[in-house]
Amino acid sequence: MSIHDLVAEEQPENFEFTAENEAEIIKIIAKYPEGRQASAVMPLLDLAQRQHDNWIPMKAIEVIAEKLGMAKIRVLEVASFYTMFNLKPVGKYFLQLCGTTPCMLRGSDDLSRCIKDKLGITSGQITPDGKFSLLEVECLGACVNAPIIQVNDDFYEDLDYDSTEALIDALSNDMPPPVGSVIKRSGSQAETGATSLSDILGSKSAKPSKKPDAKSKKTAASSAKISGV
Ligand code: FES
Repeated sequence: MSIHDLVAEEQPENFEFTAENEAEIIKIIAKYPEGRQASAVMPLLDLAQRQHDNWIPMKAIEVIAEKLGMAKIRVLEVASFYTMFNLKPVGKYFLQLCGTTPCMLRGSDDLSRCIKDKLGITSGQITPDGKFSLLEVECLGACVNAPIIQVNDDFYEDLDYDSTEALIDALSNDMPPPVGSVIKRSGSQAETGATSLSDILGSKSAKPSKKPDAKSKKTAASSAKISGV
């Protein structure tokens, strides 16, 4: 994919940070040592994206480069490397579908099929009404609750075809459902609830025998001999 595929053809003529974001930028840059202001590039790109309808125009790249004393191409390199930054308009509901191995093994292809069936879009496309766009991305870091779709800043987890359909219907009505596991798992706990300590709890509940048996006595005596007690 070339940079021309990533960047919007239609660009605004200007970009300025709001006064509130300018104040925030001063605080962000102050976190880094003198001469290391370029380290603030990602938070500034994030600010620009949030201010500008979830995508970053080229004029914002120029403004950030100037503020941080960087070459424009260096800022563009960062913005085009990470899928968290959008260089062209995305839908009101920006769906990021994870297709990496754990999500793929748990059915992400079904989710992709559902999105195509319901919205008629594939990765990189936006619906004609601008309400939804889709991007297939690499691991979103929530593999334990795979498969995942990120909607703007929120994660929907443990999805399948039917629950993806329900999610799209809810978003179409501007009624986003509660975020997290759609099968109501608590965190990344097993579907059957907390089980990790059940064996330990089980052995604690077993009654200890009052008298050590002959074998235990022998073992204890051997241990004492070895340690010289
Ligand atoms: S593989 Fe999908 S969240 Fe990690």
